[in-house]
Amino acid sequence: MTTTHAIVASGPGGPEVLELREVPLAAPGSGEVTISVRAAGINPVDLKKLAGAEAGARPGIELSGVVTAVGDGAVGPLGEIAVGDEVVAYPVVGGYAQDVTVPATSVLRKPRALDWARAANLLLVGVTATHLLEATGVHDGDTVLVHGASGGVGLTALQLALQRGATVVGTASAANQQLVADHGGIPVIYGEGLADRVRSAAPEGIDVALDTVGTDEAVDVSLELVADRDRIATIAAFARGGEAGIRLLGGGPGADPGREIRSAARGPLVELADRGALDVVVGRTFPLAEARAALELVASGHPGGQVALLP
Ligand SMILES: NC(=O)c1ccc[n+]([C@@H]2O[C@H](COP(=O)([O-])OP(=O)(O)OC[C@H]3O[C@@H](n4cnc5c(N)ncnc54)[C@H](OP(=O)(O)O)[C@@H]3O)[C@@H](O)[C@H]2O)c1
Repeated sequence: MTTTHAIVASGPGGPEVLELREVPLAAPGSGEVTISVRAAGINPVDLKKLAGAEAGARPGIELSGVVTAVGDGAVGPLGEIAVGDEVVAYPVVGGYAQDVTVPATSVLRKPRALDWARAANLLLVGVTATHLLEATGVHDGDTVLVHGASGGVGLTALQLALQRGATVVGTASAANQQLVADHGGIPVIYGEGLADRVRSAAPEGIDVALDTVGTDEAVDVSLELVADRDRIATIAAFARGGEAGIRLLGGGPGADPGREIRSAARGPLVELADRGALDVVVGRTFPLAEARAALELVASGHPGGQVALLP
């Protein structure tokens, strides 16, 4: 039996339940490929899944790596997949691993402009940001408020909104104002007085508000500044957002999962990143064995960029 090393949950909990173990590596069946993982992207959703994980659960929903084996009919969204291909994969199960066998339908070529760690963090935030823009119909001439514009989803939504011809005001901590400005947004500091600071930054008004943070402040300021509730969306404040009648997106209660939009968004995201038109900011990388520390940093809510494990 072939084996590899992977991060495994000993049961439900936080980062402390993660252990590095030797595990069996399945040969690829029909429509599957095996990938030697170069980087595994870490996302807040990994923590949410871990909280309800069964013993033996394998975290890690996206990765980059090199294909080492293919089953029959291994065709991904961008075409056939061959041994030696440099790829990204999303969605997968068990990405925090040295090797993993995944469905070919989740595997796309790796954008050349991104290194392994950045490529591994492209797709989940990218499909989520695309869903936010599609659901609220962001178009040329809009002024968009992005709550959490320094985060993984927020910084991607900021860049994609600019590409649609929108102006973007992005909230972030004081430490991350420059990051937002460097990516073309008008930065404002979140916290008390936010609505007034946004009004000063965008005197013509705000057309769309995208909440990637989920605080009462983000919801309240969005409701105060955007009249049309169909043009306010949240990926994090499901209870408050549901009461307010704004768009709820993703896996939360009452939310639109947007499966088709998200699945179809992967190819265009790879192509954008391939030509250097979409930046991914990785703040820290950790060795696979330090998955606990990596997840603790993500759990802080201020990871200072995306986080990747390097097996
Ligand atoms: N529903 C879905 O489909 C979906 C998909 C992906 C993610 N999510 C959720 O969306 C959220 C963001 O994900 P992410 O990967 O972008 O996270 P992230 O990279 O950790 O970014 C978090 C962002 O929130 C900001 N922030 C932290 N505390 C804040 C506060 N008190 N007030 C205002 N802003 C604050 C951070 O700013 P500073 O670092 O500058 O402080 C940063 O911009 C998470 O809750 C995640 O679970 C949902």
